[in-house]
Amino acid sequence: MNNLKYSLLVISFLLIPGSLCQNGDYATCSASFQCAGIRNITYPFWGGSRPGFCGYPGFQLNCQGDVPILTISSIQYRVLEIDITTQTIRVARGDLWNITCPRFLYNTILEPNLFTFSPNYPNITLYYGCNVQPITQLPGLFNCNVNQTVIRNFFTIGGALPSVPGTGISCDNTISVPVNQTAAGYLALPTASITHLQEALASGFSLQWSANNRVCENCIQSGGLCGTNRNSPSFACYCADRTHALTCNDTSSQTGTGT
Ligand SMILES: *[C@@H]1O[C@H](CO)[C@@H](O)[C@H](O)[C@H]1NC(C)=O
Ligand SMILES: *[C@@H]1O[C@H](CO)[C@@H](O)[C@H](O)[C@H]1NC(C)=O
Ligand SMILES: *[C@@H]1O[C@H](CO)[C@@H](O)[C@H](O)[C@H]1NC(C)=O
Ligand SMILES: *[C@@H]1O[C@H](CO)[C@@H](O)[C@H](O)[C@H]1NC(C)=O
Ligand SMILES: *[C@@H]1O[C@H](CO)[C@@H](O)[C@H](O)[C@H]1NC(C)=O
Ligand SMILES: *[C@@H]1O[C@H](CO)[C@@H](O)[C@H](O)[C@H]1NC(C)=O
Repeated sequence: MNNLKYSLLVISFLLIPGSLCQNGDYATCSASFQCAGIRNITYPFWGGSRPGFCGYPGFQLNCQGDVPILTISSIQYRVLEIDITTQTIRVARGDLWNITCPRFLYNTILEPNLFTFSPNYPNITLYYGCNVQPITQLPGLFNCNVNQTVIRNFFTIGGALPSVPGTGISCDNTISVPVNQTAAGYLALPTASITHLQEALASGFSLQWSANNRVCENCIQSGGLCGTNRNSPSFACYCADRTHALTCNDTSSQTGTGT
């Protein structure tokens, strides 16, 4: 009887330190993450001091400038807002930030398995190198200097070339960029100016992300933190005790992760 009591005492002493020993990855990923001007960023984002296993591939932020920079399909975006609850970010094209005559012209192409355009952000189309006569007055007309040559350009909402009586306009290049609906309204007016264009591009547009969103919600509800397995691209749920595959109350464990 005494022996049994003693054994139980020894066992409980052996178990307590084990249960107090925290999962190192859980502690790492629960640390508050601030990147450039944005605070309290969580999964799927990582970068700066936050390691990749706390996030999801394709969501690395560069925190060195005045706002976080996210790269999607080799294009840099300025991250203006992150909404974890609706899984949306508001971004502005970095190459069109205060610049309407960029050196290289890129369309706004996403990585469709990671990001989709939010509804209600119509595209603005920028036309470059157009054969518009210098005397022609068009809303949205602007000039760029390329190699000491002035080239004529303009923007429209949607994709259609404006119908100018008596002129067949053609352009060398077009790119399209989403803008918010208020901005689109201004840009559609005959009074639209290059300033309106710059403001529209600077206030950005919204994207919805997918990074195991549903699986992550379940992990969080069970008290865990979402991440990616250190050794494989699969999901990881970091819990106070150890790393689990999906939720803190599942029984399967992840091999080679956590401590
Ligand atoms: C950070 O975000 C979490 C989850 O959205 C929230 O519970 C917490 O209050 C936030 N902390 C700060 C300091 O904003
Ligand atoms: C870019 O535009 C913003 C306002 O939209 C302005 O505050 C900022 O100084 C500009 N930056 C550069 C580099 O021109
Ligand atoms: C805007 O343009 C992009 C790329 O051309 C396209 O994928 C997207 O569906 C367009 N958005 C709208 C609202 O038409
Ligand atoms: C500008 O001129 C340089 C040298 O002549 C040429 O290599 C380059 O392609 C030109 N750029 C454009 C946009 O035409
Ligand atoms: C839409 O863009 C304009 C700039 O054109 C900005 O002033 C406004 O705050 C933006 N609205 C929203 C809802 O983002
Ligand atoms: C785990 O816990 C969550 C939240 O308490 C619950 O919704 C879910 O059904 C549980 N899963 C299992 C496998 O027990």
